[in-house]
Amino acid sequence: MKGIILAGGRGTRLYPITRGISKQLFPVYDKPMIYHPITTLMFAGVTEFLVISTPQALPMFKELLGNGQNWGLDFQYAEQSEPRGLADAFLIGESFIGNDPCALALGDNIFHGTGLGEQLQPINAANQGATIFGYTVADPSSFGIVEQGPDGKILSIEEKPKAPKSNLAVTGLYFYNNDVVSIAKTIKPSKRGELEITSINNAYLENGALDLKVLPRGTAWLDAGTFDGLLQAAEYVHAVEKRTGSKIACPEEVAFHLGLIDSEQVLKLAADHKNEYGDYLERLVR
Ligand code: TTP
Repeated sequence: MKGIILAGGRGTRLYPITRGISKQLFPVYDKPMIYHPITTLMFAGVTEFLVISTPQALPMFKELLGNGQNWGLDFQYAEQSEPRGLADAFLIGESFIGNDPCALALGDNIFHGTGLGEQLQPINAANQGATIFGYTVADPSSFGIVEQGPDGKILSIEEKPKAPKSNLAVTGLYFYNNDVVSIAKTIKPSKRGELEITSINNAYLENGALDLKVLPRGTAWLDAGTFDGLLQAAEYVHAVEKRTGSKIACPEEVAFHLGLIDSEQVLKLAADHKNEYGDYLERLVR
């Protein structure tokens, strides 16, 4: 399965901080925000990534991430000249995806919880239809919202509804079979002028091929795209890391855990960080 990280957008909710820099490069306590979607997809078994961002920010992502070899991964890059919407990822990524299934992770979405990898890996392996993840939120009118029947089946998904039919939001992590590319070619821009991911999900829904997994209560889902969300994400990562002594979204650690790199490589990477981050990496293998 291929993985796309969507790290473009305007970031208007974070103006003025995002006027000069992409939010997905911002620190969330001790790591750049984009480490979160990368490690989430690594847990799902993805090793081949396409990072999509703006022409201005893309060179900075290349500088940060390189070709991925250090982490046993493969990173490719593509520009999105205008934020045409989330579903544009599958048009930009068509040749990268090829004949494979594809997962999409939004660059500003943070997932954390025990067993997340165990939950994600079977979805990758099954490779059927589409799988989306629901999470209960307090402010449903800001999200894509799922309406479920009594048996839990999805009846509809509405993008940012004025009169939400539930509090179950669609999170920024999506798994699709290869049909996603042809579906993306058929959808039309919404009233706000974007190719909506909800249109893709509704196409799968109409074909009876959309599966919803509700994230367990113990899982944290944070959208770091607002002032409060960004601060809360940093506070969350800080609190959990200090309390447990383990890092959240540390790609070197995940790569080592998954057997993508060996201890010698971890030590090499540790030597590049003459700080607490490097000490942590060294402790992993000593
Ligand atoms: P949003 O948060 O919906 O949009 P945004 O980042 O432009 O922010 P704002 O609403 O404050 O203006 O986007 C979700 C994620 O998807 C985010 O990581 C940016 C990314 N994105 C793209 O890469 N391309 C796009 O066309 C859009 C709409 C979003």
